[in-house]
Amino acid sequence: MERRLLGQTGLQVPVVGMGTWKTFDVRGKAAIKSASAVVDTALTIGAAFFDSSPMYGQAEHVLGEVLRGRRNKVLIATKVWARTASEGQAQVERALAFFDHTIDLYQIHNLVLWQEHLAMLERLRDARQVLAIGATHYDSSFFGELQRVMRTGRITAIQIPYNPLQREVEHEILPVAADLGLGVVVMRPFAEGDLLRHIPSKADLAPLLPFGVTTWGQALLKWILSDPRCHVTIPATSHADRMAENAAAGDPPWFGPEERALVARLAER
Ligand SMILES: NC(=O)c1ccc[n+]([C@@H]2O[C@H](COP(=O)([O-])OP(=O)(O)OC[C@H]3O[C@@H](n4cnc5c(N)ncnc54)[C@H](OP(=O)(O)O)[C@@H]3O)[C@@H](O)[C@H]2O)c1
Repeated sequence: MERRLLGQTGLQVPVVGMGTWKTFDVRGKAAIKSASAVVDTALTIGAAFFDSSPMYGQAEHVLGEVLRGRRNKVLIATKVWARTASEGQAQVERALAFFDHTIDLYQIHNLVLWQEHLAMLERLRDARQVLAIGATHYDSSFFGELQRVMRTGRITAIQIPYNPLQREVEHEILPVAADLGLGVVVMRPFAEGDLLRHIPSKADLAPLLPFGVTTWGQALLKWILSDPRCHVTIPATSHADRMAENAAAGDPPWFGPEERALVARLAER
């Protein structure tokens, strides 16, 4: 698995990590065992970058549980998502308890109350409980505000949606992130699974075989990672075998413009 420097965060990240929205919001022994198997696979293949949020129900808690005893082998990116400073503080205290008192990348989820949360996260970073601070938004109508936060010089990473059907970040967000040296975490690589509903044929995917791509999911992940401004993508899955399949897209060679154009055409069908 290739690793990239996540911009000015200073973190070396595997290019394929994992998200936990819905997939880790689970209860009960069987579901937690299955989540644990996904994490085992991620660790075995070096995809040990996990993204979560208090917005994802039980996900942070489940992730913390299944990582018990091996927290030092992974990078944790989580978020604060709160309408008041006191709720934000409570979320951070819970997350620090889940993840052995350190968060590698703490992000402000959907820019909610970002001025207040940013000041709190800066204090935690000064105390070395947080290593880097980022901001996220999924909705392009908030990209103007996201840019303002990026330009404060107070965050070192962003998390944004990017896939062949959602390319708004190409206009300003990715160029500005590159100019400022910010780390870029790519959410929703499969458009929440929408992009996996129609699977192109083997013949359609044949030109991608020399790039190590054997599945449509891998083609989509490689499409993202072939843009060097993107450092890590975080597909979510509840299946260990899919985690392995996704992680296999994390090695070079990377696509050139022709292969990226092919994947974009196939995605639009
Ligand atoms: N900050 C924000 O505002 C924000 C917003 C959205 C998402 N995120 C983050 O980004 C992560 C990823 O985005 P997402 O969860 O919305 O969607 P996604 O990763 O684009 O798609 C997830 C879906 O793809 C399926 N899938 C994954 N690998 C597959 C494979 N190899 N073959 C077939 N199906 C596969 C999963 O189903 P199975 O479980 O059945 O495999 C799941 O339904 C989230 O989990 C979250 O951590 C952040």
